[in-house]
Amino acid sequence: MAKVVIFGVGQIAEIAHFYLTHDSEHEVVAFVVDRAYLQDSSFHGLPVVAFEDVVVAYPPAHYKMLLPISYKKLNKIRAEKYAEAKKLGYSFISYISSKAIYYDTPVGENCFILENNIIQPFSVIGHNCILWSGNHIGHHVVIQDHCFLASQVVVSGKVTIGTHTFIGVNATIADNVIVGKENIIGAGALILKNTEDQAIFSVTQTEKSPIPSHRLRGF
Ligand SMILES: CC(C)(COP(=O)(O)OP(=O)(O)OC[C@H]1O[C@@H](n2cnc3c(N)ncnc32)[C@H](O)[C@@H]1OP(=O)(O)O)[C@@H](O)C(=O)NCCC(=O)NCCS
Repeated sequence: MAKVVIFGVGQIAEIAHFYLTHDSEHEVVAFVVDRAYLQDSSFHGLPVVAFEDVVVAYPPAHYKMLLPISYKKLNKIRAEKYAEAKKLGYSFISYISSKAIYYDTPVGENCFILENNIIQPFSVIGHNCILWSGNHIGHHVVIQDHCFLASQVVVSGKVTIGTHTFIGVNATIADNVIVGKENIIGAGALILKNTEDQAIFSVTQTEKSPIPSHRLRGF
């Protein structure tokens, strides 16, 4: 059981507070934001402190950190903040939902893995990764550091996902594929071959019918 300081006061921080409070052994004691973003002194009844003051207020010897920061700027904001906190001497918890299925998967620090992820044996998840709900992570998959997988992503067996990669909802990665680093794989994408570093895959939206819904015959 750790006393945990959560980075942020936005929606993801709020979600993290919810899951840690309802589904973990940990106790959330405070939130932390960069001083430039410090507006309210409390959030969910807990203190909010400036990152610049956190070492004094919640020393690394007694408190751990979770930084559930979004995928913006290719996950680099989260990666940078994680490195800064590490430099200050913090260690990190990783949260894995009790409703995720996995088999002692090695998971790095500062990971946030929500319900209904199915992580098959012999897979490895690096540091600072977020797996939103409901992904399939096949056997022998390697997810390198600083990745973000949205929901219902299918990562087939023996796939490697390069660092800082974002994968959107309902994307599918075929078996044995190596995804380069810093990829953006959009919602609903189908990836069948290895990808280069910094590639973007973007799917077009389903075509809108020219008729309004009340005119469709037999519906
Ligand atoms: C992959 C994804 C991020 C692409 O985003 P997008 O806004 O659709 O980006 P597009 O590739 O369509 O680019 C939009 C337009 O900006 C243009 N553009 C973007 N960046 C540009 C740049 N640097 N220079 C010039 N043009 C640029 C594109 O060419 C495109 O122009 P067009 O509309 O004339 O074709 C998006 O489709 C997606 O899947 N998002 C994830 C959704 C999701 O899973 N959400 C859950 C999160 S938890």
